[in-house]
Amino acid sequence: MEHLINQKVKNIEISGIRKFFNLVSKYDNVLSLTIGQPDFSTPQHIKDAGINAIHNDHTSYTANAGIYELRKAACQFISDKYKLLYNPDSEVIVSIGASQGIDITFRTILTEGDEVILPNPVYPGYEPIIRLCGATPVHVDTRSSSFLLTADLLKKYITDKTRCIVLPYPSNPTGVTLPNDEIKKIAALLKDKDIFVLSDEIYSELVFEGEHTTIASFPGMKEKTIVINGVSKSHSMTGWRIGFVFGPENVMKHMLKVHQYNVSCATSISQYAALQALTVGADDAITMNETYKQRMEYVYNRLQAMGIESVKPNGAFYIFPSIEQFGLSSFDFAVKLLEEAKVAVVPGSAFSTCGEGYIRLSYACDMETLIKAMDRLEQLTLSLKQKSKNKFPYV
Ligand SMILES: Cc1ncc(COP(=O)(O)O)c(C=O)c1O
Repeated sequence: MEHLINQKVKNIEISGIRKFFNLVSKYDNVLSLTIGQPDFSTPQHIKDAGINAIHNDHTSYTANAGIYELRKAACQFISDKYKLLYNPDSEVIVSIGASQGIDITFRTILTEGDEVILPNPVYPGYEPIIRLCGATPVHVDTRSSSFLLTADLLKKYITDKTRCIVLPYPSNPTGVTLPNDEIKKIAALLKDKDIFVLSDEIYSELVFEGEHTTIASFPGMKEKTIVINGVSKSHSMTGWRIGFVFGPENVMKHMLKVHQYNVSCATSISQYAALQALTVGADDAITMNETYKQRMEYVYNRLQAMGIESVKPNGAFYIFPSIEQFGLSSFDFAVKLLEEAKVAVVPGSAFSTCGEGYIRLSYACDMETLIKAMDRLEQLTLSLKQKSKNKFPYV
């Protein structure tokens, strides 16, 4: 029956991250810097709230948009933290992780032939959904602008088919985030245009310096921006699968239909845990963020000392160094590192075409692992440099 499968589904592939994980799982005693999720446990008080939700029989369907208390808490949270005002009655949907929020956003706004602009390298969760909607991803090479989708770059790619621009900052895989003045320029560029912005802010609580700024807070932008957020990364709750979609009422009322027919509602038990996270645990991310920052400084400095260039991250828990000098594809480099040094990283090619020549290291792991992994990476790079010297002795 495979010949009857929707051709668009046949055309998409499982993510390069997943493919590499499958390969890594065949090796023993590997130090893994591949992890795309916090290495901390969900805080105990949040776990308890989930357990209590079961004891209190909160185990049935909830309102399609999510329990009212959680919607209210989510609106309060982003109002307190990022100065964004949304109405819990009509401008927020509790989704099954940020992932489902991204899915229902694209399915609500895209039709065949639309174009969606994305920075490249990019998290691989957008493109397949854009394609399933019959729209075309338009990639902007951000390698020359320290991985930032700047207003100057963006304006070259806007056409009358552009329906949406994806702003995923702080970024997976690069760890960089858009500075305030750049967001301001993008907002000025888009203010008078009928183009949506999908602002994926799932790492908003993990910003190392200054405050996270959202484009939706600039004049005229709330009306056209869909903000995606959630508790996966901020509260170490990836498995609980709770995300949030915020947007203007005239968009959200349509999105709610897609969400309703898709999943009815997010898991009731997880919603009660998320309620605890966003109220009592509103500042839980602060200590985790400090730890990520210390680890980032360590990894960045080690890479610098090895002569491996990277853009210094200012958020999330990733760094994206260039491995171009070693003359190997990112996949071959990652396999070599895995086989010879027993260190796993994600090849940059998993993050689209402009990720080639880079690797993604996640520092969502303990310091001991990081130190050992950096020592092993150093050994490998020294031996690769030595080999290339022997090959070209006069260079
Ligand atoms: C940029 C980005 N957006 C969305 C997601 C998905 O988040 P969730 O686990 O809440 O679905 C991830 C997960 O890695 C991510 O890196």
